[in-house]
Amino acid sequence: MTEGKASAPAKVILFGEHFVVYGKPAILASIDKRISVKARIRRDEDDDTIAIRSDIGVAGQYCNGGEFRMVEGGSEAKAVLDPLYYAIKRVLATRNKNMGIEIDICSKVPPAIGLGSSAASCVATIAAVDSLFKRNPSKQNVCKLAIEAESCIHKRTSGADCYVSTFGGLINYDSMSKAFKKLETGGSISLVVASTGVNHSTGHLVAGVKRFRERNQILFESLAKRASDICLEASIALTAGNYEKIGKLMDENQIILQEIGVSHYKADELVEICSKAGALGAKITGAGGGGSIIALAKDKEQGTKIASTIRAAGYQSFEVGIDNNGLVT
Ligand code: PMV
Repeated sequence: MTEGKASAPAKVILFGEHFVVYGKPAILASIDKRISVKARIRRDEDDDTIAIRSDIGVAGQYCNGGEFRMVEGGSEAKAVLDPLYYAIKRVLATRNKNMGIEIDICSKVPPAIGLGSSAASCVATIAAVDSLFKRNPSKQNVCKLAIEAESCIHKRTSGADCYVSTFGGLINYDSMSKAFKKLETGGSISLVVASTGVNHSTGHLVAGVKRFRERNQILFESLAKRASDICLEASIALTAGNYEKIGKLMDENQIILQEIGVSHYKADELVEICSKAGALGAKITGAGGGGSIIALAKDKEQGTKIASTIRAAGYQSFEVGIDNNGLVT
């Protein structure tokens, strides 16, 4: 095979972000916005350069066994591309290969706003490279390598992003056993995403929560317990299609996230706009500190209204559907 192709979806975290890093459950959904990757073997057999280019304006080359040369994207480029380089090298090692590879990434997902673009890029890159050597790479294996690569960005990654991007759908993720269960909903969920326009660093926010936990142990434990119970109640409500209840639980989860210091004044403003526009509930999704919020609408029509109200207030917003496919090769 001379060209490998794969795509993987972005995600939203409906419940449990941050606490999932400390063994608590989370509920995530992969969304119908994908990252597509093409991988090619470089022609020159003696050239082991790994060249990665993404249409988000980042490109670089790793030459002579790993020396980084930035091509596009400034000082941020290396941090974005390192996990992908690591992932490619791991795939080549598992296949006993050492060769130059070119990667082209086409993203429909804005980066660094909590929609899991880096996890989806890792998942799709690993599968695209592996499919150069083997048809239909195993999803389990791709997911495992992606989690390893993601931990280059932040050591404490829960792995939840990589799971949902690889396997798709709405999932209940148990970070203790690293097991996930697909949830069937009692109807279709209308979700709206709104971006604060403020990029975040997941690693910094996770480190901030670690400091909060060290300084406020008892408070953190009780918040984590409540966040965990919210996940449990939300699983039941999702299965029953009880959207009023899910909305209320989202609002409650948002208050907990504010307490641990990961919300942002723009995220709080967006949550308020959604609530005034009639959303059943709204909260940040992902690491926070800016990033994005999600709102639950009672139906598609209301979702469209909420998204346009947010845009009228000067923020980027779009409706999302749940992707049931996950990784596609
Ligand atoms: O903002 P994102 O898409 O990087 O999501 C991070 C989610 C956290 O729970 C904060 C961290 C993790 O590894 O689960």
